[in-house]
Amino acid sequence: MSEPRPGRILISEAELRARIAEIGQAIARDYAGESPILVGVLQGAFLFMADLIRAVAIDLTTDFIGVSSYSSAAKSSGQVRLLSDLSMPIEGRQVVIVEDIVDTGLTLSYLKRNLEARHPKRLRTCVLVDKIERRQVEIELDYVGFTIPNVFVVGYGFDYGGLYRNLPYIAELEGG
Ligand code: PRP
Repeated sequence: MSEPRPGRILISEAELRARIAEIGQAIARDYAGESPILVGVLQGAFLFMADLIRAVAIDLTTDFIGVSSYSSAAKSSGQVRLLSDLSMPIEGRQVVIVEDIVDTGLTLSYLKRNLEARHPKRLRTCVLVDKIERRQVEIELDYVGFTIPNVFVVGYGFDYGGLYRNLPYIAELEGG
């Protein structure tokens, strides 16, 4: 049996660029004069974050938060653990969580609860890829790049066994 490999391209580099430019413009419009903090969720969101912030043409600051990636069994129990925290207080600030993907919704719903408890002025969510079929908990998303079917994706931050995060497009994992 061969190892699974990146196969069919689901979202091309040009499609990513165009959609991220649109989201960036929407964020810039919504937060003009407010200097928001964009919070990237490690690890997967670092590529999206890097491209997104360059598409948001207003003053902003960035920070990162790390959460555990438990096995899917543990995840479905709703346990999510903070691995590395923000470097700054967010009380009274406009905050946007930047995530690469929402699947069950458990990670983002944990993060929303955790950050809301710090009393930001307003907390919104920006997600590149929504795998809505897999949702277990209802969650409100404010900015969404793409909705995809329930397939395993790699590239543009998404990995398989640590590989393929560096692909400039999002592909379906095939074979194995
Ligand atoms: C992915 C993704 C989200 C989470 C979404 O992280 O980056 O944080 O899963 O899944 P959920 O909606 O079912 O909670 P992953 O555990 O793959 O870690 P990584 O970002 O470090 O690759």
